[in-house]
Amino acid sequence: MNKPEIMECSGLWRKRLLVFESLPSTNRWIMENSADCSNGDIIVALDQTSGRGRFDRTWTTPPGKCLTLSAVILPERENDPLLPCLCQAAALAVRQTIAKYNLPAMVKWPNDVIVNGKKTAGILAERDPSSGTVALGIGLNVNISIEEFSAINLLQPATSMSIEAGNTFDIDNIRTNLINALEHLIDDLWLNGLQNILKTWSEHDFLAVREIIVQTTDSQVVGRYYGLDKEARLVLADKNGKLHSFWSGDVSLSLV
Ligand code: BTN
Repeated sequence: MNKPEIMECSGLWRKRLLVFESLPSTNRWIMENSADCSNGDIIVALDQTSGRGRFDRTWTTPPGKCLTLSAVILPERENDPLLPCLCQAAALAVRQTIAKYNLPAMVKWPNDVIVNGKKTAGILAERDPSSGTVALGIGLNVNISIEEFSAINLLQPATSMSIEAGNTFDIDNIRTNLINALEHLIDDLWLNGLQNILKTWSEHDFLAVREIIVQTTDSQVVGRYYGLDKEARLVLADKNGKLHSFWSGDVSLSLV
């Protein structure tokens, strides 16, 4: 295993930034090294070789073209109902960061970030059951080209900041902005609960007023997106007006 460059940061969390030249997965590194991790540590891989996505999918990124990082969260309370909402806080932090570079970013439940209708970032939270440590992983497509995407097997339309802007970006600068946004939003979540997160989400919600399909492991429901409830569950109204709420699932737009 290569040794990381370790930097102390003066941000809200007084975190350490551990930058690895290459790692299989930043989330996996936290799961395997939770005893050495402190709350707020940020693990960065300049090249992530076996990135993990939701539902056991892979997250593939060409070296040096994307931001792949994970934050260490040590929850104060076990089973904190706010824990699942860390993903929404992270998605909003990415959205806010992308918007700083004048790109029209939106959030798509549960935790994708969309630019011009295409996925630009994904979030994956994993929890080590023995220590309770959470790895909050973020993958942001910064400088991937259209040609590089064509070599990746994609499940849904994807894009990068550089494709949408027509120019490349300084990844270190984006990383600094993202970490700042992330720590402010997570601190707000712990201090104030979900209220600010839900309000901001509704202002940048890609699914608003759309017909959608929610796929879970055992069902598929089609209907009109009804927003998020006060616990950040997705609510959908089916064609009979019956409301369905979901803790997790894959959401796509319905073409009817
Ligand atoms: C998704 O399926 O949309 C979630 C993708 C999450 C990818 C990030 S990249 C950094 C962190 N490490 C991983 O192995 N996965 C997450």
